[in-house]
Amino acid sequence: MEKIISFTKRRGFIFPSSEIYGGFGSCYDYGPLGVEMKNNIKKSWWKDMIQNHENVVGLDSSILMSPKVWEASGHLTAGFADELVECKKCKKRFKIDQAKKKCPGCGGELTKARKFNLMMKTFVGPVEDEAAKTYLRAETCQGIYMNFSNILDSMRLKIPFGLCQIGKSFRNEITPKDFIYRTREFEQMEMQWFCHPKEADKWFDFWKKERMNWYLSLGVKKENLRFVPHAKKDLAHYAKAGVDIEYNFPFGWKEIEGIHNRGDWDLSSHAKFSGRDLSYLDDGTKEKYVPYVIETSGGVDRSFLTFLIDAYQEIKGGRTKTTEATKEFETIIKLHKDLSPIKVAVLPLVKNKPELVKKAKEIYKDLKVNFICQYDELGSIGRRYRRQDEIGTLFAVTIDFETLAKDDVTIRDRDTMKQERIKIKDLTQILEKKLK
Ligand code: GAP
Repeated sequence: MEKIISFTKRRGFIFPSSEIYGGFGSCYDYGPLGVEMKNNIKKSWWKDMIQNHENVVGLDSSILMSPKVWEASGHLTAGFADELVECKKCKKRFKIDQAKKKCPGCGGELTKARKFNLMMKTFVGPVEDEAAKTYLRAETCQGIYMNFSNILDSMRLKIPFGLCQIGKSFRNEITPKDFIYRTREFEQMEMQWFCHPKEADKWFDFWKKERMNWYLSLGVKKENLRFVPHAKKDLAHYAKAGVDIEYNFPFGWKEIEGIHNRGDWDLSSHAKFSGRDLSYLDDGTKEKYVPYVIETSGGVDRSFLTFLIDAYQEIKGGRTKTTEATKEFETIIKLHKDLSPIKVAVLPLVKNKPELVKKAKEIYKDLKVNFICQYDELGSIGRRYRRQDEIGTLFAVTIDFETLAKDDVTIRDRDTMKQERIKIKDLTQILEKKLK
């Protein structure tokens, strides 16, 4: 993990938040390459859920909602709380399951456990009193339930249908840890699939498989993924059944996504608290019922860490075995083409020939209209290829002396390192084809 953390900082993927002030809590900022990759993950999820399935639509609901939402959802009660103990000596706080009888830090005596709710409080408006109190959302799906009727009325959807949302959620985790794995501010990608109660088991199985396939289709190694069903006693307060998708991180097997059968818990509870009828009338059978919900709930940040770790490779001596590379490890991140932050690097063979540099800059300007590109002229060409391999760039376009005479360039493939000569006029079309 130390290698990954320093790599992400050195190459502009992830920085600690507020670093000049010593960092802040467990908050992180995604740098220029990180934000491209994160956007690619979200784009891929959105496409997979909405375009690759029928009857699934999207939503972007607000982070701040009526505090009643969180009363009805059960998040203000013991169900959404961790047990916390404090060290009497060093005052550090731990989740009860992380500390046994003594403080894991200094060995000091611990206080009795007390419940600590994970909702992040805030105040809406200028007066900080009870009436102005609300919470930053702890899961995006509550915004989906709030819009269940709006979607039915406006989109003319019939059950079964799904509603997707990507967005930030906040939890006052007692012990955020493992880099971006557990933080207090994170992004979720959630879908709620509304279905007939009798079909809930069937859809649970369907979505469980679909979600695993998404990780596999983006290149995560099968042996690093597994399903872990929830034991009845470990189920979340809203769930009838649940299964986690886990990834084999350097710090152990850990959950990256949960698939739950939430039954009619949420819609029924919101109906009770709001006084609104949130049932569904089937115009064919005339049956009226509260739909069950199958939820798929993944984290953008946890997916990011999964994809990055799974694609990260160090090759001793390097792949090309040049003298320069044999001294060290060569790093390559073999990210799936849809996820790589930079698709094309444009490299003039040398930087001290103005005609080459001019041509390379022209090509860069043309290509960056269609692809996320990087222009690099510093250092030997071999070193520049390795710099691009290290950040997962898929193709390197090199402009050499032949280019000036023949109007062609070489394209180098990150994974095979094979190079082919291509006419400049065909470059965009060929790259588009390769990236499809
Ligand atoms: N709506 C259901 C729900 O929120 P969850 O298991 O609490 O279920 C779902 O969270 C997903 O959200 C997790 O699998 C994880 O990917 C992400 N997540 C939850 N808490 C997180 C945290 N503190 N930091 C980063 N990601 C988190």
